[in-house]
Amino acid sequence: MAYQVILPAAGQGKRMGAGRNKLFLTLENTPVLIHTLRVFEQDPECAGIILSIHKDDEETFKGLLKEYHIQKVTDLVHGGKERQDSVYNGVKAIRTDGIVLVHDAARPFVTLDTIHQLVKAAEIDGAAIAGVPVKDTIKKAKGLLVTETIERSSLWAVQTPQAFLVSVLRKAHEKATEDQFTGTDDSSLVERLPHKVVIIEGDYDNIKLTTPEDIYFAEAIIKKRKSLR
Ligand code: CTP
Ligand code: MG
Repeated sequence: MAYQVILPAAGQGKRMGAGRNKLFLTLENTPVLIHTLRVFEQDPECAGIILSIHKDDEETFKGLLKEYHIQKVTDLVHGGKERQDSVYNGVKAIRTDGIVLVHDAARPFVTLDTIHQLVKAAEIDGAAIAGVPVKDTIKKAKGLLVTETIERSSLWAVQTPQAFLVSVLRKAHEKATEDQFTGTDDSSLVERLPHKVVIIEGDYDNIKLTTPEDIYFAEAIIKKRKSLR
């Protein structure tokens, strides 16, 4: 059940408003990036990490990998303008077949349980994504005028990791590039091949640190996990 993982980490963190890549912000004195890397570093099934970074941050990233003794990063690739470009540059660095996960470096709370369920599902179906049932009622609107209420029972809030057969993810990115299609996640590129994608129910703690409030949520999750230990 070995897998490789691509971690897109080349964003600018504009919505966090920290004035620099939010992955360098610290939780419990440790950068968010390192929290995420450690999950994979400590998973015996993880065969290697491909880290996609902004070239201006290269020295900072290299310094952190050294300082925190992260050994499993096999490739540091340069990201692109969109997240999709950053992932595709990671895909190009893959040299073996098997299963590849794509996981936002900004989601430090992913669990090994979710990772392993995704890998297993991707081995069977070729593509599997983590998601949680939507809790809010979601409406469609034109401007501020409601046009439709979408039945909640069919809605999932989708997260990363997303797991794929390497051949499927590669084909999906090649086709998206050819068609100049930009999606907000990798699954959407796979769906339009077309190729089936299955959902694995993950958990609500697997948040993406996006806006400043998310730091408080992250601190609460850490506190909860400590109390459970
Ligand atoms: N990412 C990337 N390359 C980009 C944009 C994003 O590798 N061109 C990465 C981010 O570093 C992050 C993940 O994709 O780990 C999810 O993106 P997001 O949460 O949107 O992060 P940012 O793009 O950094 O934030 P913002 O959109 O607020 O600027
Ligand atoms: Mg972004």
